Amino acid sequence: MWLYLAILVGLYYLLRWHRERQVVSHLRDKYVLITGCDSGFGNLLARQLDLRGLRVLAACLTEKGAEQLRGKTSDRLETVILDVTSTESIAAATQWVKEHTGDRGLWGLVNNAGISVPTGLNEWLTKPDFVKMLNVNLLGVIEVTLSLLPLVRKAKGRVVNVSSVMGRVSLCGGGYCISKYGIEAFSDSLRRELSHFGVKVAIIEPGFFKTFVTSPPVIPMSYMPTFLVDAMTNWSKPRPAKAM
Ligand SMILES: NC(=O)c1ccc[n+]([C@@H]2O[C@H](COP(=O)([O-])OP(=O)(O)OC[C@H]3O[C@@H](n4cnc5c(N)ncnc54)[C@H](OP(=O)(O)O)[C@@H]3O)[C@@H](O)[C@H]2O)c1
Repeated sequence: MWLYLAILVGLYYLLRWHRERQVVSHLRDKYVLITGCDSGFGNLLARQLDLRGLRVLAACLTEKGAEQLRGKTSDRLETVILDVTSTESIAAATQWVKEHTGDRGLWGLVNNAGISVPTGLNEWLTKPDFVKMLNVNLLGVIEVTLSLLPLVRKAKGRVVNVSSVMGRVSLCGGGYCISKYGIEAFSDSLRRELSHFGVKVAIIEPGFFKTFVTSPPVIPMSYMPTFLVDAMTNWSKPRPAKAM
């Protein structure tokens, strides 16, 4: 009886080890599209996946960013220009991805592109400030995902959305936290809808890393050069007259 029990326990651990190994095979047949590859996380991920042999389709906002990335990677990596706020740009990139991936579909979509400005006290910001942020960080993610979903479904792939710790705690005013909370909500419903089709949806919630979006001059300067002093002296008072 003890022998049978030991064999059962052994089989259980073997099965668990096999399931949790999470080793992806045939990397050279797998296509991954990453948005916002000009700099930061997107750029780093594109180079790392390329090194591992995956077929990286790197979406950059600018031709300069795309050219620089191509200069640092293998011939396998290809670039496309994509502005996630433009429906035409998304449609053109989707067609390009379709032509590249063919019957294989898209194994991975990483919605990484994002901005962090304008950020400031809510009362000091205007509706266009919120619209600008939400267009890139939230509606951009949604439109890119909806457009590429048929290709992801074909490959039984995965969608990875880059949220933030600020998708859990609203530490600052403006559209940034709202956009990241929105990504979390969108990802949660999408995950439930797509699990039946073998598609996974994941979110990444980085803390604070040294990239352009967190660069010290960027956030205060988005509002005005004297942001910090004004924030301290005018906290909870109306928007200062000199605000841009
Ligand atoms: N760094 C952190 O600590 C941190 C923390 C939490 C979450 N995140 C998130 O991580 C993601 C990547 O940010 P990062 O830190 O790597 O900063 P980053 O270096 O500024 O990367 C953001 C990328 O998005 C691109 N982009 C901006 N607007 C775009 C648009 N309309 N269409 C397509 N691409 C656009 C930028 O292109 P250009 O360079 O040409 O402007 C840039 O390549 C963002 O979603 C950000 O919110 C970062």
